[in-house]
Amino acid sequence: MNYGKIVSFNVEGSRVEIKFENAVGYVTAVTEEIFNVFCGFKSETNHSFAIEGNKVQNVNVIANMMGNYMVISTSKLSAYVYDDFKINFTRPDGTVICRDYKGAREAQGAAIVSEEAIKQARMEGHSLSDGIAHHKIEVVKCLEGGECFYGLGDKYNFINKKGYEFEMWNSDIPDPHFESMKSLYKSMPFFIVHRPNVDYGIFFDNHHRTQFDFAKENSGYFYFSADDGNLDYYFIAGSSIKSIICGYTYLTGTTPLPQLWTLGYHQSRWSYENREELLSIADNMRKHEIPCDTLFCDIDYMDNFKVFTWGEKQYPEHKKMIEGLKERGFKLVTIIDPGVKKEEGYSVYDEGIKNDFFAHDTEGNVYENVVWPGESVFPDFGRRAVRNWWADNQKIMMDDGVAGIWNDMNEPASFRGEIPEDVVFCDEERKTNHAEMHNVYGSLMCKATYEGIKRHSGKRPFIITRACYSGAQKYTIGWTGDNQSHWSHLRYSIAQLCSVGMSGMAFIGTDAGGFGANCTSELLCRWMQVGCFTPFFRNHSAKGTRYQEPWTFDEQTLDICRKYIRLRYKLIPYIYDCFRIAESSGLPVFRPLVLNFENDKNVTDINDQFMLGEWIMVAPIVDQGKVSRDIYLPKGCNWYDFHTGERLQGGTRILREAPLDTCPIYIREGAIIPMWPVMNYVGEKNVDCLELMVFGNDGEYLHYQDNGEDFAYREGEYNLYKFARRNGRLSVEMVNSGYAKRYEGFKITMSGKTFKVKFSGRKLEM
Ligand code: GLC
Repeated sequence: MNYGKIVSFNVEGSRVEIKFENAVGYVTAVTEEIFNVFCGFKSETNHSFAIEGNKVQNVNVIANMMGNYMVISTSKLSAYVYDDFKINFTRPDGTVICRDYKGAREAQGAAIVSEEAIKQARMEGHSLSDGIAHHKIEVVKCLEGGECFYGLGDKYNFINKKGYEFEMWNSDIPDPHFESMKSLYKSMPFFIVHRPNVDYGIFFDNHHRTQFDFAKENSGYFYFSADDGNLDYYFIAGSSIKSIICGYTYLTGTTPLPQLWTLGYHQSRWSYENREELLSIADNMRKHEIPCDTLFCDIDYMDNFKVFTWGEKQYPEHKKMIEGLKERGFKLVTIIDPGVKKEEGYSVYDEGIKNDFFAHDTEGNVYENVVWPGESVFPDFGRRAVRNWWADNQKIMMDDGVAGIWNDMNEPASFRGEIPEDVVFCDEERKTNHAEMHNVYGSLMCKATYEGIKRHSGKRPFIITRACYSGAQKYTIGWTGDNQSHWSHLRYSIAQLCSVGMSGMAFIGTDAGGFGANCTSELLCRWMQVGCFTPFFRNHSAKGTRYQEPWTFDEQTLDICRKYIRLRYKLIPYIYDCFRIAESSGLPVFRPLVLNFENDKNVTDINDQFMLGEWIMVAPIVDQGKVSRDIYLPKGCNWYDFHTGERLQGGTRILREAPLDTCPIYIREGAIIPMWPVMNYVGEKNVDCLELMVFGNDGEYLHYQDNGEDFAYREGEYNLYKFARRNGRLSVEMVNSGYAKRYEGFKITMSGKTFKVKFSGRKLEM
């Protein structure tokens, strides 16, 4: 798009309208440090599926024409706007944050290939790139040197995505995922650029198909583009990667506090095919003393894959069964796909047809494609009436006693080819097409599910999704879809989870053990050692692959899995605290080292170590046969080996033995880690006495406590404890006491001693 020269401008509050020769552009100071850049190709104003409500603050903006360019400033950020809507962002002192690239795009290292060579390569199935593709909306920005690129959601790649290209087009890919794959299930068009002393973020809020090239085409620039929708991006400045993520979640929302039981261990398989099998899983969990809170019913629980039904043959008296599971401390989560079976007499289909709730082809007929139930139709979730209906359908499952809903296949996936782009879907009352609604389909399904569960249960809804768009973290947690029992998938899952976390979704997990292919005992052990630290900890495997429940291998595997699942349960209060931080700030639970230690240049590309919150660092084994590894301990603090208590200096590289039953774990000095006693499921034991593990002589920690279930905490029904360690002395104090239940005492381990103290609610010092 050629915008042309700047003709004039006009300031309205914090929004600056700029007339170019060929278009009108807008720069809006949303906050002092977040600018929105907009040009309405499709709609006159921003139309977001990620941002809800008006986020524009009352910001003082100064705009001036300076000869042939203009400067738009707040007290913290300036945009220099040039002809053709080129923009440079700077700090008030003139330091450049990011400049638009003014030259023509040019592909470095483009292969010179003859027609004959192309033919040959294609014969064997190789795909060849078609050279430079130009797009209607294209923003090209300079690289200043030393940039790292983080974020972009669930892309199967490294934490630093420099040198790769991506596309946002929610895709169901059952084949093994690999690092140069452009798209996966989710579209989170947000990324962070980090270079020494400079951080910024860009959220390209365009839900159509979009492209991202992080210096793959040319090491002098990066770009993002689209052929439809608006030019609509947020430039987020800040003093750290953390502040950029907070800026992004200020816009798109944070991950709400989950119910406590959702932090336990989840066991799943496609499928536990009948009641006996499901109950035998529950029996084995308790028999082998493996803590477990949740069991899953995959598609085979339904009557012929009809959503919101139960197959009486496989699952007779399912309500009673769920009740029985509940008594033994198990919750049940059921899968719900969007595809509704085309079958007259099936109430969900009939109601949808009667009310005209399904998408149509261009001729006006209800559009059909094939998914698990065979011929199926697709709810048009872009319409409020359809979402309300879907929300009400959740009552069927809630009344059955189901504790959460697993939304799958919501890219939407279809087996008879992808849904054509011209199939008619609506954006509320406006008729549009699949091309426009594709990337937000999963989010809208989750939003409907969330509203339904909240309405019908009153609890914090637990929804898992495979597909979504930015902002869905307000309604759903995510999992990374169909990975495989491959060592590389264990290894890459770390970067993948870090990237989703940095893209605002704090509650996320992978199928531990791997979904496709056959897991080995060694891989399961190592995967459990990572899984027990992932926000969502679920073991799930595919039909036709070997079973991978912990007891299906040998005694050693069982022991190792149990050991790490138990560790998970001990850490639940700490993980819950991380979630409180996620809700209030937007910061992820599962983090790359660079998020906590961005001034340590040694950590920018570490893909096989991660942080759980601020204090716990994990350096798992992610390679077959390995029983030791090198570990980098970030600079600026000391570290304690969790297993041996040894104190180690930061900024060093160490070699650590890690036999199969050992996952190297390090605690940052200054930590005060709250822990629970081991229990079979959340709530089995009443925790009157909280365990505290104190590392070092100085530190402070806020611990959060509430009923772990509903929304009363938003009315102030929670307790907040401040643990402070100063010069070797520890104090405990309540800084909020809105929740009636409180700890009666603490079991403290510090300076090599363990002792118990009583707590009356008044400040304690020891
Ligand atoms: C999809 C999901 C997978 C599920 C299967 C059957 O492949 O990603 O988790 O088990 O469908 O429902």
